[in-house]
Amino acid sequence: MESKSGMALLRVLRGQRVNPPPIWMMRQAGRYLPEYRELRARAGSFLEFCYAPAMAAEATLQPIHRFGFDAAILFSDILTIPDALGRRVRFIEGEGPRLAPLIEENTWRFDDSALALRRLAPVYEAAERVRAALDPARALIGFVGGPWTVATYMLSGKGGEREGARRFAYAEPGRLDALLVLLVEMSAQHLAAQAKAGCDVLQIFESWAEMLPEPLFRRLVIEPTQALVRRVRALGVDAPIIGFPRGAGVSAGAYGTETGVDALALDHGAAVAPLRRTLPDGMPLQGNLDPELLTVGGLALENGVRAVLAAFADGPHVFNLGHGITPQADPANVAAMLRWVRGEA
Ligand code: CP3
Repeated sequence: MESKSGMALLRVLRGQRVNPPPIWMMRQAGRYLPEYRELRARAGSFLEFCYAPAMAAEATLQPIHRFGFDAAILFSDILTIPDALGRRVRFIEGEGPRLAPLIEENTWRFDDSALALRRLAPVYEAAERVRAALDPARALIGFVGGPWTVATYMLSGKGGEREGARRFAYAEPGRLDALLVLLVEMSAQHLAAQAKAGCDVLQIFESWAEMLPEPLFRRLVIEPTQALVRRVRALGVDAPIIGFPRGAGVSAGAYGTETGVDALALDHGAAVAPLRRTLPDGMPLQGNLDPELLTVGGLALENGVRAVLAAFADGPHVFNLGHGITPQADPANVAAMLRWVRGEA
């Protein structure tokens, strides 16, 4: 078997510049792929799909088989953790996730953490299956949501509605901090178990890092993430960790510098050069093509790819989107993006 140092993604995350850059896409297994929609139709609910190791492994490998990405990301979801803690998560077609909002409950009850981790065992089995099937030059990525992002879903009961979660953070700091402590520990255990099951790289999706006043950004994003990274390391995991503070703007600099993540993923709104100046020298960066270009295609896509390659040319770079691929994206445009990134067109 080829050594892990043969993986382009790992070399970049350890600080080497690789040309052409390794490439994968957030949400690369998803509804823009006909083979995913076919598999999805055979699965039960979305979470049943996530907890079915053979199907989850197949979904994980679909974009690798079709496009040959440098990394596979485990097919799962950031909301498996609240679900495993006994906060049942449902997905409503066309609307997204729904949970019973914690904001409306005066006393919180969560299932025991050890039980919750046992409920996540199918995720680790899926990782083992993928790692066994995946060619050794490609990396497998495991992930969690950032503690604040997962907390916002648990508090509000759905995505997008963060005002209630923010009001709660101001009004009930003790209860919110206790929730973050629980999520940090669960997330650390979940990341460590994914690494043990064969994940070579870990990513933290902090999808709701936007529009937080600086003191809140520090308390809700930087400090819990720092605690999470430390805890993962204390559990003996040395896989590189990518942090993705979506929408953090200038604060992505503090996130990259202070949390202990090994690499920083940038959204498509991030200005690369000014951010680079606030980060440790040579910090690996990932990003940040606008996912809408995969719907538009053509010259706009080609120019977009070239602009991303140029913006990240002065350091270790992992090519990715600035956020997840959308269901409207055309698989032919994904193939064209890969050819342009790899200089094959
Ligand atoms: O990247 C990958 O391909 C790996 C799998 C993955 C999924 N979700 C599968 C999924 C990953 C890494 C996620 C992360 C995730 N989940 C995030 C963070 C990234 C981001 O997009 O900001 C968040 C916020 C969630 C929560 C979530 N899951 C939402 C809001 C939704 C509904 C919106 C939507 O796109 O449908 C989901 C469902 C979901 N997670 C789907 C997939 C493939 C679609 C469900 C389906 O196929 O019916």
